[in-house]
Amino acid sequence: MHQEFLPPGIVILTGAGISKESGIDTFRDKDGLWTRVNLEEVATIEAWHRDKKKVLDFYNDTRRSFRAAHIEPNAAHRALARLEREYQGEVTVVTQNIDPLHEQAGSKNVIHMHGRDGEIRCMICSAVFESDVDLSPQSVCPNCQAVGELRPHIVWFGEMPLYMDEIHAALERCGLFLSIGTSGEVYPAAGFVLHVRRRAERAHTVELNLEATGSQPLFHEHIYGPATEVVPTYVERVLAHGWRQ
Ligand code: APR
Repeated sequence: MHQEFLPPGIVILTGAGISKESGIDTFRDKDGLWTRVNLEEVATIEAWHRDKKKVLDFYNDTRRSFRAAHIEPNAAHRALARLEREYQGEVTVVTQNIDPLHEQAGSKNVIHMHGRDGEIRCMICSAVFESDVDLSPQSVCPNCQAVGELRPHIVWFGEMPLYMDEIHAALERCGLFLSIGTSGEVYPAAGFVLHVRRRAERAHTVELNLEATGSQPLFHEHIYGPATEVVPTYVERVLAHGWRQ
C-alpha cells in the first residue's frame, strides 16, 4: 500500500520564559513567582490539606491575572503556531505552562503536562470540569456533590505530570526537539532532552533561552536571547532550510 512520506516530527517543550514577554512572571528568575511566594504553602498536596482557602485563593488570583487585558500571546507563541501550520510533519507543543497563550496564538497540538488554567478536578470522584469561576472550600462537585473537594486541575510538586504516555510517544518519533524558556530545574520535563537522545538518536536538540541553563551541555545547539526575538528567527530558518546546521 502506498504510504505518504511525512517528515520527522518536531517536539517543542516550553516553560515560563516563553510567556515572560507577555507579562506573566517566571518562577525562578530573580523577580520570579517562587521568590515571592512560598511554593510549599500553595503548590503541594500538603498545603491543600493544611489550608484549602489559601491554595484556592492563590489559583483564583492566578486565573484572574491571566485574564488581564494586557496579557496576550507574543511573537514567540505566534511563531510556534506558524510552525505547526506550515511544517509538513507533526508539530507538538509540550508546555509546562498553565496559561492559555499557545492556544490563543493558534497552536492546536498542545499538551499541558502541568495542567491548564480553566480546568478543575474533584479530589473524591476525579471528575474534571471546565470552570472559570473562583473556587472556595465551600464549592460543591457537580458530579458527586462532595463539598470542598474541588481543586485546580494543575500538577503540584510531588504529583505525577499529565499525558506522559503521549509525550513519550511524540519524543520517540521526533527529529527535532526544542526547549524554549525553561530553566531545566523540574523533572520529568528537564529529562526529555536525554530521553530524545537515547530513544530518537538521530534527532537534533536545541536550547532556546534567555541564557544558558544547567542543561546546556545536553543540547546539540544553543540560541540565547529573548524568546520574542530568537524563536521567530529560528522558526523562519527551519521552515526555509530545515534544522541541520
Ligand atoms: N525569553 C526566553 N527565556 C526567558 C525569558 C525570555 N524573555 N525570560 C526568562 N527566561 C528563561 C529564564 O532564563 C529561565 O531559564 O526562562 C526560564 C524560566 O525558568 P523557570 O522560572 O524555572 O520556569 P520553568 O522552567 O517553566 O519552571 C518549570 O516549575 O514551579 C514549577 O510548575 C512550575 O511549570 C513550572 C515548572
